[in-house]
Amino acid sequence: MFVSKEGAALASPNGLRTIMEDIAQTLHTADQGNGNFVNLGIGNPAPIPEVTTYWRSLTQEVIDENATCKMGSYGASRGEEALLLEIARFFRTHLDWDIGPENIVVGPGSQFLCFAAGVLFADCDHPIILPRLPDYTGYDALRAGRNALRGIEPQVEILDQRSFRYRLDESALAKIDRAGLFVASTPSNPVSDVLDQRALLLILDAAKRTNATVLLDHAYGLPFPAIAHGTTWMTLDPRVLHCFSLSKAGLPGARLGFAIGDPDRIDAMTAFVSNTVLHASRLSQDIATAALRDQSILALVRNNISPHYRRAAVHAQRAARDCLPASINWKTHAQDGGMFLWLWCDEPWSDDLELYRMGKERGVFFTPGRYFFLGSEQEHAWMKQCLRISLNQPAETLEHGLTILADCMRALRDSAPRPAWDRPLSRTADRGVHDA
Ligand SMILES: Cc1ncc(COP(=O)(O)O)c(C=O)c1O
Repeated sequence: MFVSKEGAALASPNGLRTIMEDIAQTLHTADQGNGNFVNLGIGNPAPIPEVTTYWRSLTQEVIDENATCKMGSYGASRGEEALLLEIARFFRTHLDWDIGPENIVVGPGSQFLCFAAGVLFADCDHPIILPRLPDYTGYDALRAGRNALRGIEPQVEILDQRSFRYRLDESALAKIDRAGLFVASTPSNPVSDVLDQRALLLILDAAKRTNATVLLDHAYGLPFPAIAHGTTWMTLDPRVLHCFSLSKAGLPGARLGFAIGDPDRIDAMTAFVSNTVLHASRLSQDIATAALRDQSILALVRNNISPHYRRAAVHAQRAARDCLPASINWKTHAQDGGMFLWLWCDEPWSDDLELYRMGKERGVFFTPGRYFFLGSEQEHAWMKQCLRISLNQPAETLEHGLTILADCMRALRDSAPRPAWDRPLSRTADRGVHDA
């Protein structure tokens, strides 16, 4: 079989896809009676009952109204007119953005829209820049074809014994002299931090200097699902494409996202949609239109989605302190909201793939962190010492998973060769408060 260079890049699963397939395969086997697994590796939204009920009844309403006849014909590539008008009204009302349908394109999920932007606005001479690693592994696909992708390693700021924060490396960003597209998720997958105004202005400066486009991926941000405590400064700059999605608000299977930006970029994106998938699902677009028309999605976010993840984030920090070994130097990334806990096991023996393997043996999945340092030019030990832990499971499931992770950490530490001077005289001497 002949496969083109571009095709080979798209046809090969990246590192994290291989892990996700391993998780799916193991869970499938477990379903057939080989055990109960806890999956803290997945990026599905939490199954919040009120959210499930809301989308189910809205879907039923839309189906009852007109689905059959809508599904019987093709729609417009930019998106259904009613949806474009509702999106424009929503952003005019809530963010004071002066936009109309010409500023909007709808697509089958924001992953697709990011891919479209990568194809359209970058190539090997004008690379994709991820200014703030670690970032969403789905951006790896953007380097397919003739694209180059470069990620900027962050600076690590230790906040206290148990927490740290990655910071944008401003001087590395200032040195970027060729770029086609800057991409960042905010709040980020995987660390759940938010791009602040200073960082965003620096990225915009770099984009101006290189004549590049900036794509801000709000999959976890405002206005839905709004699972950040802080907010990214939302500016309508002609260079910025803002990407939004209904997935994390409870509809990942509906495959619906949209981008907002200046009409020239949006026209190019619309042509890309037309040339590849024709348009997004008309049924999903009608569901989104209904949610925006009466603004009921705002109440859902305010009353159910945001509070759920806020509670989950607070609980996760507490559970980490309660369950993980006090004698091991672990830290969590400061959380501005988001769907994940990012854990750094800052020990020379620590290895994310080994912890993944040991967790799997004991019935728990976490996501190894190394795959989120995409396009990094340097390899630091700390890039292989992190795990992403999903906050979409009930509190007791998370605690169970963290307790097992604690066992894995102890076992990995105890199996690592240690210099003579570092060997404890007895096991009790090495036990921390939570280490029993
Ligand atoms: C940061 C980020 N962007 C985009 C996506 C994909 O979203 P969608 O379902 O809208 O394609 C994800 C999914 O996990 C994500 O984490």
